[in-house]
Amino acid sequence: MSVTLAFDVYGTLIDTHGIVSELDELVGVKAKDFSQAWRDKQLEYSFRRGLMQHYDNFSVCTSHALDYTCAFYKVELTNEQRSTLLQRYRTLPAFIEVPDGLTRLKEAGYRLYAFSNGTADAVDTLLVAAGIRDLFLGVVSTDDLKSFKPNPAVYCHFLRESNASGSDTWLISSNPFDVIGAISAGMKAAWVQRSQEAIFDPWGIEPTVTVGSLSELIEKIDRVD
Ligand code: LAC
Repeated sequence: MSVTLAFDVYGTLIDTHGIVSELDELVGVKAKDFSQAWRDKQLEYSFRRGLMQHYDNFSVCTSHALDYTCAFYKVELTNEQRSTLLQRYRTLPAFIEVPDGLTRLKEAGYRLYAFSNGTADAVDTLLVAAGIRDLFLGVVSTDDLKSFKPNPAVYCHFLRESNASGSDTWLISSNPFDVIGAISAGMKAAWVQRSQEAIFDPWGIEPTVTVGSLSELIEKIDRVD
């Protein structure tokens, strides 16, 4: 049976900090910190909504997190600036090596899926804008379960939707909480360490492999499978 790869989207394929140039004009020198705080708050809101079982979709987490971050940094956006930023978030860029890395994996016979907290519609829009949608067999969203990663149920949902088994499936993610979630649910997982400063959570649950970019995946996955 061929091996299935479940690609996390935000932060793994798509650069959530691709918005920094837009933020530069609005928040100036704090743009990078603002972008990181926005992303951290977005994830915190998804975790909390998951735990509370008070679901609203990931785009709502993103817009609430933007409002929080604006309040924190005392940035006042007009309605137009706010909606322009959120619109831009729907077409964030892919990391530079992603199209080529995915193409090589697809040509090598791996079954490629996008697997995200984002709604299927939001993920489709991102992947189409980045010119990589056609490389995937499908998009699986945690929205189907009205929950978020790392609820173990969403990893089981992915396996069902992709008709794959945990032992033949890898999650590929830059998000340590996602890697730990997938391994705990019986999948293999590659951690994409997108920067030297990125730290993996010291829980004693290690990624099956660690790579610096998607270009290194084929070689490392082949060695394990
Ligand atoms: C996703 C979040 C975790 O794409 O980045 O699922």
